[in-house]
Amino acid sequence: MDERKHDKNVSENEVKPFQPSVNFVEQAKVKDDSLYREAENDRLAFWSKMAENIEWMEKWDQVLDDQNPPFYKWFINGKLNVSVNCLDRHVNNGRGDKQALLFEGENGDTVSLTYKELLNEVCKFSNALKGLGIGKGDAVTIWMPMIPEAITAMLACTRIGAVHSVVFGGFSPEALKDRIKDSESKLVITADGANRRGKEIPMRSAAEEALDQSPTVEKVIIVERTGTSYQPKEGRDLLWEDLMKDAEDSCEPEIMDAEDPLFILYSSGTTGKPKGILHTTGGYLVGVDTTFRYVFDHREEDIYWCTADIGWITGHSYIVYGPLSAGSTTFIYEGTPDYPARDRFWELIEKYKITIFYTAPTAIRSFMRWGNQHPDKRDLSSLRLLGSVGEPINPEAWLWYHEHIGNANCPIVDTWWQTETGMIMITPLPGVTGLKPGSATMAFPGIEADVVDDQGNSTGPGQRGFLVIKSPWPAMLRTLYKDPERFENTYWKQYPGLYFTGDGAWKDGDGYFWIMGRVDDVLNISGHRIGTMEVESALVEHPSVTEAAVIGKVHEIKGHSITSFVTLKEGVEGSDDLVQELKAHVGKKIGAIARPEEIFFTYELPKTRSGKIMRRLLRDIAEQRDLGDVTTLMDPQVVSAIKEGYKEK
Ligand code: WT7
Repeated sequence: MDERKHDKNVSENEVKPFQPSVNFVEQAKVKDDSLYREAENDRLAFWSKMAENIEWMEKWDQVLDDQNPPFYKWFINGKLNVSVNCLDRHVNNGRGDKQALLFEGENGDTVSLTYKELLNEVCKFSNALKGLGIGKGDAVTIWMPMIPEAITAMLACTRIGAVHSVVFGGFSPEALKDRIKDSESKLVITADGANRRGKEIPMRSAAEEALDQSPTVEKVIIVERTGTSYQPKEGRDLLWEDLMKDAEDSCEPEIMDAEDPLFILYSSGTTGKPKGILHTTGGYLVGVDTTFRYVFDHREEDIYWCTADIGWITGHSYIVYGPLSAGSTTFIYEGTPDYPARDRFWELIEKYKITIFYTAPTAIRSFMRWGNQHPDKRDLSSLRLLGSVGEPINPEAWLWYHEHIGNANCPIVDTWWQTETGMIMITPLPGVTGLKPGSATMAFPGIEADVVDDQGNSTGPGQRGFLVIKSPWPAMLRTLYKDPERFENTYWKQYPGLYFTGDGAWKDGDGYFWIMGRVDDVLNISGHRIGTMEVESALVEHPSVTEAAVIGKVHEIKGHSITSFVTLKEGVEGSDDLVQELKAHVGKKIGAIARPEEIFFTYELPKTRSGKIMRRLLRDIAEQRDLGDVTTLMDPQVVSAIKEGYKEK
């Protein structure tokens, strides 16, 4: 188990919690523990009540079907459409002229769409999709920059019942190709390019080969964002603009069953092959709608900014579906926080009068390092609530965020959840929960989380164990796309009846959860999950490499950075050039976030006598810890050889 990160927190429960201010509580949606008690009393009645916040075309006749675990179903026979919930119902409720989506590009160009306008765009694009023969159940891959069209595309898919698979724009074309193949997408929506730190990053031209090698793809729709050139393929490639020009602006929504697939999102696991996490319609929407309203204490006048990319679950649940279902105003930004200057985010908060800001610890650690002068020179007084997600937040970063961004005046919701959970699971309720920096605090009402030991028994206060979820929840993943067996093996086999999260955790005497990070071979790099095996498979695909082992090394800003140990084919000499080549190779296979920070060559990897690579030993070497007994290794010499080599670097 990865116990490195939060050892010093063991005494943290002695810290006096930060209580929400009287001011905040006065206006808060929830001011006391009534919601918790209601859910404890009757969990399903609680979720049934929450589902009333959604507009159903036909009401469900049963909240939960648990006859065939772990294949749970929610809101049986309920019928609904997600785009209707995110758009039409607000237009019909008098919010038509309210801003739904605000956008600012890296170059300062802006877009503002009201609910009425966004509905129009979505209907037009839905009709365009239908015109191309896309319909209910068809898979559509979206590989786009952070621009409004990406959100329009997602919502249009939901309107016509197509299943989107958004692939993070920073993933490489090869990673895109694998995901297109696995989802069997008929359509890919992309852009000519993306703006990043003043440069144009080509997308469509970069994906040329990937698209040509994807036989399922019939059409490719391209948004012209940067003017980057590419060779359009006649009969396959179409321009977004052309399709939208002639499209009708009303479109009957498809009537979807609560359990119809809504989207697939690929996420890293312990093997080289990403998992296609499948979410369905009704339960997912109830889950993200409810948590968005309560965790962010949503108010009608809020301007909400989540800095995630739509390519991750955070973008799906808390940029698009949660906020729009709740009728909020969601802001998106195309660029990075340090371009053109390191105060870009604070400038945007000032300009748009952002009230709720949701970001990741890795970003907060960068802001800290860049210095207080950047936020200090901006007016951040519009902020009333801050959020954190993606990895454990270290108390220093929490305190800095609280003081320098929140002016010691905004509660911080540290939200624990996963691509698989679909919705926030462990979190404070900002008007109720006393906050302890570094703790995601308590399970959301209606969620039953616990920490268990190897045997599956609940651990006592302060005792480390594995984080599990004890009962099904509405937004849970339903399966892994085309691989139900892997779904069962990954999440449900460790402890019968319990959902295994893959995270280590402990609870303190007050029942607060302290999440310690992944216990499996999955790394958390800047809040993004990368499987060690994914990187290893990419490395061994290189013609010079025989074997590779990848570990995460504690990194000040990123949480973890990737270090890899590589053995080369006979006759190949390690060199700095080869190091660069291998890094580039991984970047090409997976994407820049997976590029190893360090690569070391070694004549052999440390293995047990049965041949298993001992990654723990490699971690100890990389972090310069004592190695203890290594005599059980197949080749005890290897460790000291690696150690020497590592020191020399
Ligand atoms: C893993 C899930 C869910 C959004 C982004 C990541 C880690 C996430 C927290 C938090 C401690 C956290 C866990 C989890 N994680 N949020 N608030 N405190 N750890 O989604 O890529 O599916 O990764 O991120 O290790 O299992 P994901």
